[in-house]
Amino acid sequence: MANFIGVVGSDRPESFNQQALALLEGSLHQSDHTVDRLLLADPTLPIYTQITEADVGQPTQVTQFRESIKKADGLLFACPEYNGLMPPALLNGLTWATRSPTAQADLSPFALKPCFIASSSPGSLGGIRAASQLANYLIGLGALVYPQFFLIANAYQVFDPSKPEALQAFQQKAESLSLEFARFCQAGN
Ligand SMILES: Cc1cc2nc3c(=O)[nH]c(=O)nc-3n(C[C@H](O)[C@H](O)[C@H](O)COP(=O)(O)O)c2cc1C
Repeated sequence: MANFIGVVGSDRPESFNQQALALLEGSLHQSDHTVDRLLLADPTLPIYTQITEADVGQPTQVTQFRESIKKADGLLFACPEYNGLMPPALLNGLTWATRSPTAQADLSPFALKPCFIASSSPGSLGGIRAASQLANYLIGLGALVYPQFFLIANAYQVFDPSKPEALQAFQQKAESLSLEFARFCQAGN
């Protein structure tokens, strides 16, 4: 059994990315894995600058992010795409998470951490540009990024509750990918 963190990149209650994450969580729960959610795109976090860091120190949420990430067997990112990139709030949370309590660079929470990336958008590419950017970013932090993304394009149609059949193919994909990712995490331990 592995313990995962679902890293949430959208605080919208109806977020397509949170719904994509829920598909992955469902399959993992069925195989006795745990998934705790972490809103890394936390709108209450100040925007990271070195001056702000010197002024306010490490915000409490950041201490918690870093602890949760360190303890997790793997991270499942639910990453929206904003103008071809990850959302600024997610990048802000990640940036804070790379800093020590003494305002030094500290990438240790991400070192060799297995990461899986899901992205969903109403567009026809399903957030692949943001997912690719996030993958490169995480590799730069020393994480192990699973080489396949879970992408859901045309999200309004796929998550339309009046047409559950649209979701079925993605449920199967979520099951196979999430269990492959769990094996990927366990192979490294
Ligand atoms: C500022 C902004 C920029 C966006 N840029 C893109 C984009 O580049 N590609 C895309 O597919 N969708 C884009 N979208 C649409 C988002 O994919 C859509 O709002 C999605 O629902 C956000 O994710 P969420 O549902 O998890 O909150 C953009 C939305 C916003 C607000």
